[in-house]
Amino acid sequence: MKALILSGGKGTRLRPITYTGAKQLVPVANKPILWYGIESIVAAGITDIGIIISPETGEEIKAKTGDGDRFGARITYIPQDRPGGLAHAVKVAQPFLADTPFLMYLGDNLVESDLGLFVDDFKDRRLDALTLLCPVNNPSAFGVAQVDERGRVLQLVEKPKVPPSNLALVGIYLFSSTIHQAIANIQPSARGELEITDAIQHLIDRNQQVEAHKLKGWWLDTGKKDDLLEANRIILDTCLETAIAGEVDENSQIIGRVKIGKESQIVNCTIRGPVTIGCGCHLENCFIGPYSSIADGVTLIDADIEHSVILQDAKVIGIQQRIVDSVIGQRAQFKVAPQRPKALRFLIGDDSQIELV
Ligand code: G1P
Repeated sequence: MKALILSGGKGTRLRPITYTGAKQLVPVANKPILWYGIESIVAAGITDIGIIISPETGEEIKAKTGDGDRFGARITYIPQDRPGGLAHAVKVAQPFLADTPFLMYLGDNLVESDLGLFVDDFKDRRLDALTLLCPVNNPSAFGVAQVDERGRVLQLVEKPKVPPSNLALVGIYLFSSTIHQAIANIQPSARGELEITDAIQHLIDRNQQVEAHKLKGWWLDTGKKDDLLEANRIILDTCLETAIAGEVDENSQIIGRVKIGKESQIVNCTIRGPVTIGCGCHLENCFIGPYSSIADGVTLIDADIEHSVILQDAKVIGIQQRIVDSVIGQRAQFKVAPQRPKALRFLIGDDSQIELV
């Protein structure tokens, strides 16, 4: 069994954060989203992993993720020259996949479930395809499945205006090599992409064994800001363990589960977990509230932050109001003069959003 992780795409829904980097490398609880996927694939016993990369962000993904050693896996990077759709990505990966059955994983998806259960079921029953489904409130934004009471998939439609059910296709699939033939037989969709949904429908139409599992636990597709904040909240809630490596002075109070990395200094702050703080940060006179992730090298002085993600080397200084539900990009600087400011001076990147509420 091999795995294929799709880590291309432009990340338009996470702009401006994704102007300077891949969406799959945006951190959730200070770890790139993509790495959670790699770890759960390895935990399911699959160590031969191909990662589809795009010309725009491929080098960054390679440089940061490496050859797989740190995960106990072997990673092969597979360039896809254009965003031609999920089935196009499988086509591009065919020399890597050969005739081996594989797990396909969309690199910006996070699930709570143990993937090993699905892999075992897929192998035991010698299926042609196994899809994972999750009930959602907005099925029209996804691929949607109609299943019978035994879990057999009757019909799949991509982003239907009138959805046949509320069961969305989660971005994790298991395939036997028959999928390659199905892909060779489909045409690009209205959005000009070769859809994996159409390829699976092709298998269904030819009476191949296509089944579905309903996912237990949460599923997050981290393509947008609020999804990213929600992923951050859930991961901090479920996975964070207290570990304090940095320096905390005697005027600071640490409450609940808090992780502080090496060479970080905490001076006169109250930190109420779950909160994770990276290495080499300087925090002074701050309140950091629950569900905040602060990456390496961040400076926060006279600031009050809650339920937010602050990326590497950003600086927030002198903001009296509480910052909530925010994502602040790498190296962004946000400063207010100690005396009441008379003017606001900005250099704000394209697609940025500032709300004074
Ligand atoms: C893709 C699939 C869709 C699936 C979704 C899950 O959509 O085409 O069937 O429900 O991933 O994240 P996309 O993210 O390309 O819009």
